[in-house]
Formats: sequence, structure tokens, C-alpha cells
Amino acid sequence: MIIGASGHGKVVADIARKLGRYSEISFLDDDLEKEIPGYQLLGSVKEYKKWKDTCEFIVAVGDCRIRSEIQKKIERDTRIATLVHPTAALGENVVLGEGTVIMANAVINSASILGKGVIVNTGSTIDHDCRIGNYVHAAPGSHISGTVFIGDRVWVGVGSCIVNNVSICEECVIGAGAAVIGDIERKGTYVGVPAKRVIHGRRDAQTGIL
Ligand SMILES: CC(C)(COP(=O)(O)OP(=O)(O)OC[C@H]1O[C@@H](n2cnc3c(N)ncnc32)[C@H](O)[C@@H]1OP(=O)(O)O)[C@@H](O)C(=O)NCCC(=O)NCCS
Repeated sequence: MIIGASGHGKVVADIARKLGRYSEISFLDDDLEKEIPGYQLLGSVKEYKKWKDTCEFIVAVGDCRIRSEIQKKIERDTRIATLVHPTAALGENVVLGEGTVIMANAVINSASILGKGVIVNTGSTIDHDCRIGNYVHAAPGSHISGTVFIGDRVWVGVGSCIVNNVSICEECVIGAGAAVIGDIERKGTYVGVPAKRVIHGRRDAQTGIL
């Protein structure tokens, strides 16, 4: 049972189908008008308990905060799936938390530990010995080098890069194409090369330099 009948949900359904271990794949979403060709939308999210004994669940919502809220609510009485696309490459001693989804052509290298509800999107790479917090989203084509620590609910934007041996605190947004070259210790949105903090569209003069 996939919660979230959006574009991201479609991709999650495709992975679940390719894995061949589910006899049926369906959706729940609060917008009952949504349509996913080839799949049924069976009800709203609050109805999830009807399927709690017969289904595994996965929360397919790109927004890190919303994904965490839904998974925290349903994980008490459901089985949460972890899905890895058949083309993804995982190194030795990689650990994936419940509700984590690894998409096509992603690479997670040896000894990296990913928390719950993480999305490693298409072609994204996470190198060795990383610690990736709960409900992080590494967007398509983002690259996280070795021994990087990322706090909970960080959104790593499409095509961004994070150099090795740095830490990023929880709830940060790393903009599309940004290059993070040092530790980020303050929550916020960071853009550019090298990445600097922006507040309401302006570079933060006091804390912008990483
Ligand atoms: C960083 C981001 C979240 C900022 O969004 P926002 O808060 O709506 O910010 P705005 O669009 O108002 O832009 C604010 C300023 O930052 C700049 N900016 C925004 N994103 C930027 C980026 N990725 N790189 C460089 N500058 C950026 C804007 O040009 C603007 O500067 P200005 O005020 O000098 O014109 C967004 O632009 C972004 O990069 N999102 C990532 C999207 C993504 O990865 N999607 C993948 C989905 S799977």
C-alpha cells in the first residue's frame, strides 16, 4: 500500500512491481480525485488501518516533514516496507531503515547507514561510511561523498554535491546544483557554489560563508 498518489508515488509503485514480491499494489491519498494509470486509489490516508494486517506500507511523499509525520503515525501498527530498485548498487554493510526507498541507478557504498524513510532518488550516490538521518531526501543526481553526516529531514537538491568528511545539521535544504564544501551547523537553505545560506532570497551576510 503506497501512501501518496503523486509522481513520486508512481516511481515507488514501479519499483515495488519490478521487485515481484507483491501480489497487489494500491494507493491511499487524501485527494481521492488523483489517478495513477494501472493502479487503484482505495481511500484516504486515515483509512489505512483497514489494510494493516494484509499489506506492507510505504510513504511516497517527497516532502521530508510530511513523510516523517505520516510514517510516525502509521508505523506503530503497520509493517513498513523498504524498497531497492533492482539497478541500484549497495556496498557491504549498508544499513537501510524502514520506509527507505532506493531508486534506479543509485549507489550506496560500503558501511553507510541510512535512517528511516530516506529517499535516495534516481542516480544519486552516497559514498562509504556516511550516516544519513531519518527522512532525508537525496534528490536525483545528487552526490554525497564519503564519511558525511546528514541530520534528519534534510533535502539534498537535484544535482548538488557534498564533499567528504562534512556534517549537515537537521532540516536543511541544499539547493539544486549547490556544492557543500564545509560543515553546516545552522538550519536553513543553502544554495550556490560554494553553498551559502539564503534568507528570504538574500545571502546571509553574517553566516553565509561555510
Ligand atoms: C533552494 C530552493 C529550495 C529555494 O527555493 P525558494 O525558497 O522558493 O527560493 P526562491 O526561488 O525564492 O529563490 C531565492 C533566491 O535564491 C536563488 N536560488 C534559489 N535556488 C537556487 C539554487 N538552487 N542555486 C542558486 N541560487 C538559487 C534565487 O535565484 C533567488 O535569488 P535572488 O533573490 O537573488 O533572485 C530551490 O530553488 C531549489 O533549489 N530546490 C531544489 C529542487 C529540487 O532539488 N528538486 C528535486 C525534486 S525530486
